[in-house]
Amino acid sequence: MKSKVTVVGAGNVGATTAQRIFEKGHSDVVLIDVVEGIPQGKALDILESGPIVKSDAKIIGTNTYEESNDSDIVVITAGIARKPGMSRDDLLITNMNIVGSVTESIMKHSKNPIIIVVSNPLDAMVQHSFSKSGLSKERVIGMAGILDTGRFRTFLSEELNVSVNSIDAYVLGGHGDSMVPLLKATTIGGVPVEEMIEKNRLEEIVQRTRDGGAEIVAHLKTGSAYYAPSAAVAQMVDAIIHDTKEVFPCAAMLDGEYGIKGVYAGVPVKLGSSGIEEIINLNLSQSEKDGLLASSKAVEELIEVMKGQ
Ligand code: NAI
Ligand code: 2OP
Repeated sequence: MKSKVTVVGAGNVGATTAQRIFEKGHSDVVLIDVVEGIPQGKALDILESGPIVKSDAKIIGTNTYEESNDSDIVVITAGIARKPGMSRDDLLITNMNIVGSVTESIMKHSKNPIIIVVSNPLDAMVQHSFSKSGLSKERVIGMAGILDTGRFRTFLSEELNVSVNSIDAYVLGGHGDSMVPLLKATTIGGVPVEEMIEKNRLEEIVQRTRDGGAEIVAHLKTGSAYYAPSAAVAQMVDAIIHDTKEVFPCAAMLDGEYGIKGVYAGVPVKLGSSGIEEIINLNLSQSEKDGLLASSKAVEELIEVMKGQ
């Protein structure tokens, strides 16, 4: 029997994520949005690609949650996206209300799903969804680190003319200006990146990674990135559905790991059929530890603002 994945929000990220999951063929997909006609039309269009892409999966679009009954995984992309000049944090209150009500609706129809949150500001939104869901912390996960790491690996690949497959890297911390690329753990064919790229140039690449989302927004003008984000979500879904136990950087609720407690932060996690099966404790340098703590402080500030609402 196929698994069932519900994607809430049929905009750029949601529809592309639904398409990617549908094309894998391992899961039936339910696509939900508040706008009448959009999820129905996009789902039907994706369904009609089945014979061409050789997928026998089902996909249905809807404005209500009945079809999402007993989902294995629910991906939340509902909300507003950034426009030029806006930071991810500018989306806080609007998306908090949306993500909160979406999480409540999900939980009325699925007993024990795994929720992957994408909506921004990511770390605050996944924290909010976790507190609304009543699920265990292993089952509510934020997507950001795979995307940020993907951007970093892309820029390193361009810089060094090396396959992306030969670049190992981690970008941890929050999905924002305080994200923490781990330079010591970044290697090109096993060689530390700091031995291959001189310090100032490497700092420019790190900064471009931090600004990666804004760079796309500046080009698109009417929205934010969705091809790489949807690829990152699909990778997480695959790892959970196929119980691969792969390690990816994802936003996880920490309980003392890395000196952080009760707050979501981007850390390496092992993903499998129960969600986050382990938080991997990397040996960080002092400045990386400080960066991670600063990043979690920034998330705590957003959580305080949400509490005041
Ligand atoms: P979009 O504007 O294309 O799509 C958002 C969709 O959500 C719209 O179709 C809208 O009708 C729908 N929506 C709004 N309220 C809803 C509700 N209550 N229930 C169901 N659907 C609802 O935006 P896009 O580009 O798809 O981005 C979605 C979110 O993901 C944004 O907050 C964006 O900032 C975030 N994002 C996060 C990334 C990450 O790395 N974590 C990467 C890319 C985007
Ligand atoms: C990004 O990094 C908007 O968070 C989104 O592209």
